[in-house]
Amino acid sequence: VKEGAIAILGGTGKEGQGLAIRWARAGRRVIAGSRLEEKGRRAAAEINAELGSTGVEGATNRDAARAGEVIVSTLPYDGHIQTLVELKDEFTGKMLITATLRWPPDLSGKPSAAEELNETLAGAVPVVAAFQTVSSGALRDAGRFEDVLVFADDAGIRQAAVAIVGETGLRGIEAGPLKASRVGEALTGLLLGINRIHRVHSAGIRITGLPDEGGT
Ligand SMILES: NC(=O)c1ccc[n+]([C@@H]2O[C@H](COP(=O)([O-])OP(=O)(O)OC[C@H]3O[C@@H](n4cnc5c(N)ncnc54)[C@H](OP(=O)(O)O)[C@@H]3O)[C@@H](O)[C@H]2O)c1
Repeated sequence: VKEGAIAILGGTGKEGQGLAIRWARAGRRVIAGSRLEEKGRRAAAEINAELGSTGVEGATNRDAARAGEVIVSTLPYDGHIQTLVELKDEFTGKMLITATLRWPPDLSGKPSAAEELNETLAGAVPVVAAFQTVSSGALRDAGRFEDVLVFADDAGIRQAAVAIVGETGLRGIEAGPLKASRVGEALTGLLLGINRIHRVHSAGIRITGLPDEGGT
């Protein structure tokens, strides 16, 4: 089992559970956070039963944030900033990877959910945007391989996040500063349209022309 737990805030939802399964399968300790401790514990127990493991714990979002070395947010757009601002004292010295996107997705280039969050947190923690284009269905499909765009202002943080993303079995790709995450978010809107046209549920992306590592 790798060092350092990943805390997934809002980890009882579909996206959080999909990520928890992938990181737990890779040997990471995962703490699924919830507004209700009991709900977090129940979600963790379900994942452990599915995986035949004990690697996932459930907790309140605050306890998860305190215990986690890496913080991941799969909170809904409505309420994510408020929740994370309340918890920001627990983030010192960590990184915050947010999968949240503006809902409904915006195709006209408004600041992304991650940019809004970063502005509000005002440097309390480095903010990384990742997984916006990755559907919960793709996360639950163990055979699925797709790319994950990783946005952050600091190149060192971005590279560290790419490594953590890579543990899911998907390929993290450094995709630029946080400002560029509005393009990633718009891309997600496009993918939802592609889902509708092609009558599928989890279209994703792959970037071609990169060396296998993808991260640099
Ligand atoms: N689903 C996807 O395919 C997908 C793909 C890419 C990105 N995303 C993004 O990932 C995030 C999570 O998606 P999801 O489908 O898993 O969402 P979700 O199930 O609606 O929400 C995740 C969890 O957030 C908590 N929550 C709900 N309302 C809240 C509020 N007002 N304040 C604080 N916590 C609240 C709930 O946990 P508790 O009740 O246990 O607290 C819920 O289980 C969203 O921002 C979404 O845009 C989703």
